[in-house]
Amino acid sequence: MIELTTNYLGLQLKNPLVVSASPLSESIQNVRLMEDAGAAAIVLRSLFEEQLNLESYALDRDLSQGTESFAESLSYLPEFSDYRAGSDAYLDHLMRVKECVSIPVIASINGITPGGWMHFAKEAEAAGADAIELNTYSLVTDPLVTSSEVERHLIELVAHVRSHIRIPLAVKLSPQFSSIPNLAVQLADAGANGLVLFNRFYQPDFDIEKLTVVPRLCFSNSSELLLRLHWVAILYQHVRADLAITGGVHTAEDVLKGIMAGASVTMMTSALHQFGIRHLSSIQADMLRWMLDHEYESTNQMRGALSRNSVPDPTPYERGNYIKTLSSYPLQRAPLHQPAHRK
Ligand SMILES: Cc1cc2nc3c(=O)[nH]c(=O)nc-3n(C[C@H](O)[C@H](O)[C@H](O)COP(=O)(O)O)c2cc1C
Repeated sequence: MIELTTNYLGLQLKNPLVVSASPLSESIQNVRLMEDAGAAAIVLRSLFEEQLNLESYALDRDLSQGTESFAESLSYLPEFSDYRAGSDAYLDHLMRVKECVSIPVIASINGITPGGWMHFAKEAEAAGADAIELNTYSLVTDPLVTSSEVERHLIELVAHVRSHIRIPLAVKLSPQFSSIPNLAVQLADAGANGLVLFNRFYQPDFDIEKLTVVPRLCFSNSSELLLRLHWVAILYQHVRADLAITGGVHTAEDVLKGIMAGASVTMMTSALHQFGIRHLSSIQADMLRWMLDHEYESTNQMRGALSRNSVPDPTPYERGNYIKTLSSYPLQRAPLHQPAHRK
């Protein structure tokens, strides 16, 4: 009997397969399917700080000036124009999800500035969330803002949210920081029980015909996993927080790599959007087959086996990897003439 159980944020999970935040969990039918297909926990889609701020702003306005709509104030967030679909709807949905599945349900809040929205974490806790995932996606465009200020704000933010709740707190991070290990240690000290690595950086594209900058969402593929493996392998056993991988997990091999790097859980969104929720059950079956073939008895046995601490030569995780990778490229003979068809 192969043991897939894992501990994440103090929650005992039946396996390391977690569904990350996305609109898939908006449907109760999907949520049931996730549990049936083997998901060990579900992260609900995020409620954004902007939604919560808009809500309290709207309440003030309604009380003082009547009930006219002011959707234009957040026209860059069009889907939030119906502010009444914000926190109450989220909490109702959370409670419904909790009623219909027995796996842990993690509420997600996306916020970056200190403010009243943080109380929502407490409300989510009261509504039955097993943990909170705080997504801290932000982009600094002001040249006067320094990296150390950004990190200090982030650490303070985590400490604030921590002070509002008793349930476990995971922090979903972006990969663009000067010293990820130092930040990770400080976030754990500030009260993060888990770190979710990493947010994808959704760069907008240019439409050169219309001369506009347009958002583009494309799904990930397994190549995006490497960045996450690298940092989890470095952080494993150096930070007092569980590590979760999000980004590029598509196959059983990806999950196994994540565990060998040191992750407690691996999360999936793109793969489930592309191949359907039942993809979870084939991943689990493939994992079990591989573990049986390779005589592993549990995921705990393989956790961290390829972390920086465990491998005999840690050079691949350091600067040496850069030099080795570039110098390993075989010298190709440069063509002396232009190919005929290009003349
Ligand atoms: C359509 C869509 C919606 C998403 N919504 C959220 C969200 O509300 N909150 C969040 O933290 N991440 C959100 N994400 C990011 C995913 O949770 C996940 O971190 C990311 O897609 C990387 O994982 P993947 O490679 O498995 O897709 C969303 C992703 C997609 C594709």
